[in-house]
Amino acid sequence: MLWPSQDNGSGCANILNYCMYTMKKNVVLFFASLVIVVTISSEVFGQKRAYRTPEFAYNWGKPSLHPDHIILNVTEDPSTSMSVTWRTSVEVQVGYAEIAKATPAPKFWRNATTLKAKTETLDATEVQYAQSVTNYHSATFTGLEPNTIYAYRVGNGSIWSEWIQFRTAPTEGQPFSFLYVGDAQNYVLELWSRLIRAGFQKAPQAGFVVHAGDLINNGHSDREWHEWHMAGSFIHGMLPSMATPGNHEYYPINDEGWKTRSRQLSVQWQPGFTLPDNGPEGFEETVYYMDYGDARIISLNSNTKIGKQVPWLDSILTVNPKKWTIITFHHPLYSASSGRNNLNLRNGWKAILDKHQVDLVIQGHDHAYARGHTMPTDSNLVAGLNTRDQYIGTAYVVSVSGGKMYPMRPDGWADFPGAVRDRGGENTQLFQVITVDGDVLMYESYTPTGDLYDAFDLVKSNDGMPNTFVDRQQEAIPVRTHEETISYYDTLPENIEKKLEKNNPGYTVIRVTYYDEPEFRGYVVRMQGEEDRIELTLDEKGNVVKE
Ligand SMILES: [Fe+2]
Repeated sequence: MLWPSQDNGSGCANILNYCMYTMKKNVVLFFASLVIVVTISSEVFGQKRAYRTPEFAYNWGKPSLHPDHIILNVTEDPSTSMSVTWRTSVEVQVGYAEIAKATPAPKFWRNATTLKAKTETLDATEVQYAQSVTNYHSATFTGLEPNTIYAYRVGNGSIWSEWIQFRTAPTEGQPFSFLYVGDAQNYVLELWSRLIRAGFQKAPQAGFVVHAGDLINNGHSDREWHEWHMAGSFIHGMLPSMATPGNHEYYPINDEGWKTRSRQLSVQWQPGFTLPDNGPEGFEETVYYMDYGDARIISLNSNTKIGKQVPWLDSILTVNPKKWTIITFHHPLYSASSGRNNLNLRNGWKAILDKHQVDLVIQGHDHAYARGHTMPTDSNLVAGLNTRDQYIGTAYVVSVSGGKMYPMRPDGWADFPGAVRDRGGENTQLFQVITVDGDVLMYESYTPTGDLYDAFDLVKSNDGMPNTFVDRQQEAIPVRTHEETISYYDTLPENIEKKLEKNNPGYTVIRVTYYDEPEFRGYVVRMQGEEDRIELTLDEKGNVVKE
């Protein structure tokens, strides 16, 4: 191409022509590049990306001489005591924990006391997904003052953690808040990290965190526990955890276990946590209670021996000195998601919860959100009820904090006589901030981006009447569903879907997951028939490779 500057022309006219030419050319180039940029952008950012599991280096998550997985745990009375647990490699045979009242002056440690930790070795070399030997160290700080900030550190006497602060529980009559999260379970480091950190941002003054089971997916996996600890990071050291085990904390430990379906509690659970030792025999660190301010908060184990926990529960609720009773366990009495119904659990526990007028039950398991209530059942009280009063029995919540999502039950709790679901939600990670302040329990559920998703208050009536229920969901954002949010599932190319439905008459595609992994690239497709479901694995071209 001959550029104007290379033309033999001369004078003003030529210069003008050249300027006009350059301008036109630049305008054309500008719009052309805009088209390219827009095209590339929509391809890069608008495409449906396939999920690929992040890889972890082999040594990632292995213990070392330095204390890690530092976790603060509640005790029976967190106003005067608190427990801490951490791990190291087995070379560290002795552990110490030091504690002092925190002061603004940095040398508060001059007043520190040192405790020798209990050290136990977990040899999990034969346990699938653990295959490790680890030393766990734990200590319980006692003789603490209520509602007071302490600083502690852990180590072997020369290698130490940082000084970590926490606040002891208040005494009765003083308000407090806590965080409650449902299943973290999947994509823990990838996606639970943002959720728990957003929770800490929203309620940095929270006294503790309730984890309602399925903290990870394979309960024995060292790598997954490492994800959980890295995701929570220093929050686990600052806000004591109250954890209840889910079904994913009960996993087979080897191939034989998978064959015989024998599941056992995560081998890391008891060494890795130090939870109150006040439950019934055989349920150590899974069934227990604590008294925090004006509340008795109880963990039950919904995985095993439901009936055996009832006498203990009855006894601690019969002598319950606290105004409020909150219970956590994993499997919900009233399910949030489709196709789930824990009838045995309801038969086992509903009556005892009603008998003691438990205020709030916080659960997990269903990977969807549901919040509702039962009606008061005490006939003496019911007789005195005025229909204008919003009295309720127990408030029940199911929530999910990690990245796995199921559809919610389309009809709410219509199948559950005596229970009403007031609010549902899908495809949304959530954490809850619950505040107990005298006669009011204030419940708020938040998204990781800070929106209020649900809210209600329970108001205690001191005349022995049931709680008054104040539904505040009108303050929250609209209900979120799969249809209205970024698709959780993948889609099949249209021609493959048509072919599949033609080859499987009577079945329709209901769920597609696309895998883009080095060992497999293709689709896993679930199809719903009139009476059953089938699952097919397809390669990228749509050929069925496994039925
Ligand atoms: Fe579960």
